[in-house]
Amino acid sequence: MELIYPAGIIILGCVALLLFLQWKNLSRPPCIRGWIPWFGAGFEIGKAPLEFIEKARIKYGPIFTVFAVGKRMTFVTEEEGINVFLKSKEVNFKLAVQSPIYHTASIPNNVFFTMHEKLHTMMKGKLGTSNVYRLTGQLTEELHEQLENLGLHGTMDLSNLVRHLLYPVTVNVLFKKGLFPTNAKKISEFRQHFQVYDEGFEHGSQMPECLLRNWSKSKTWLLALLEKNMPDIKACKSAKDHSMTVVQAMMNIIEMEKNEQNQPNYGLLLLWAALSNAVPVTFWTIAFVLSHPNIYRTIMEDISSVFGAAGKDKIKVSEDDLKKLLLIKWCVLESIRLRAPGIIARKVVKPVKILNYTVPSGDLLVLSPFWLHRNAKHFPEPESFKPERWEKADLEKHAFLDYFMAFGRGRYQCPGRWFALLEIQICVILIFYYYDCSLLDPLPKHSPLHLVGVQQPEGQCRIEFKRRK
Ligand code: HEM
Repeated sequence: MELIYPAGIIILGCVALLLFLQWKNLSRPPCIRGWIPWFGAGFEIGKAPLEFIEKARIKYGPIFTVFAVGKRMTFVTEEEGINVFLKSKEVNFKLAVQSPIYHTASIPNNVFFTMHEKLHTMMKGKLGTSNVYRLTGQLTEELHEQLENLGLHGTMDLSNLVRHLLYPVTVNVLFKKGLFPTNAKKISEFRQHFQVYDEGFEHGSQMPECLLRNWSKSKTWLLALLEKNMPDIKACKSAKDHSMTVVQAMMNIIEMEKNEQNQPNYGLLLLWAALSNAVPVTFWTIAFVLSHPNIYRTIMEDISSVFGAAGKDKIKVSEDDLKKLLLIKWCVLESIRLRAPGIIARKVVKPVKILNYTVPSGDLLVLSPFWLHRNAKHFPEPESFKPERWEKADLEKHAFLDYFMAFGRGRYQCPGRWFALLEIQICVILIFYYYDCSLLDPLPKHSPLHLVGVQQPEGQCRIEFKRRK
């Protein structure tokens, strides 16, 4: 009897615990966990992550959890979940990105948390709509310089052509004029290391660096380059006028907070943020326009009506000119819509209710701009390149279309978005103004492997360009 009593209590306790766990699981979204402990659905999602998300949505419904490599990611695909993602106080941007930032740029968590708000606010101001247009003249000048190196005609892989233009232009405008190397060997070294760093960024954000030797080498090379050039980057006139670049302002803030040792790391992070999306978006915009002859023709008519016969003079582009070339802006936005980032994420800090489920704290709440942009409810004929759909957006008031989420939304949406749009528009205008262009290969598919950042082309696509007379 003495033995039966405690045994009964233990059994009852176990049953209660089982029931509790079952109830807890019932209230959670359906979970795909694979069969390998800890690794979970890692293999399945790793093979073709974008496709995996959509197949899971079709099978499990508007909210589901994927357990992979020790993490729980809960995907939301419909209005209610999207609203929680964008508006709830129980989900947190900084906690979601802090670990990838530590892995990719070696910025310690305590430094990241103290610096984040100040740096974000500065960038939002300097690259916001009331200041960014000050950079129009410099962007045009820098692009002219790079276009002159292209010669009178040629054939190139379009991705390489865009890198050739945007790497130096972006570095010279955002970091410091003249910082980008002009010597061919150094340029080639920079390009090679940045590409390795960019291509491995997604793995680098999750895996220990020691398993990614080449990637780690390129990261170290870029950090050393930034460290060596830091005194030159920081040498500037005054913090008061607008002559300070974004990176100079950033370094100023970091110095004031006594975190100088992390200046190269922040330089690397901004370099990646500024180039990794803008380069493929420029690629897609040119490729989509050239594969739609009617759109290309209309764009050329618009360009001639603003600047005169294409190719004749060295042109200056103004904010007013850009307003008249609305179709180009629509093409950029439509390209971003179709090739949007695979995912953006927030960390759940307190359990949140979505539909009939409770998402537990500790989960990453994930939203896929790529798939959201393919929902026919919000974007009719979602797979078609239709720049005219952007007529409905109030771009004068700097508003995108509802459910356009390529830059994120809310408090922490991309602070570089207006700069990206400006740079890409001017780049496209100048290429089309000076060169008669055509694609020598069909429009490539996008690589199925990318979740972080906009979609990259799969394989090469050559462009032929001839200088207009
Ligand atoms: C078409 C090009 C671009 C796309 C599609 C893009 C997209 C994004 C997205 C989706 C986020 C995360 C937002 C979220 O989670 O809600 C982000 C963050 C960020 N972007 Fe961009 N971006 C682009 C260009 C740029 C450029 C040119 C810069 C720099 C000049 C930049 C700087 C940043 C920074 C610093 C953050 C992190 C913000 C923070 O930590 O608070 N981006 N971007």
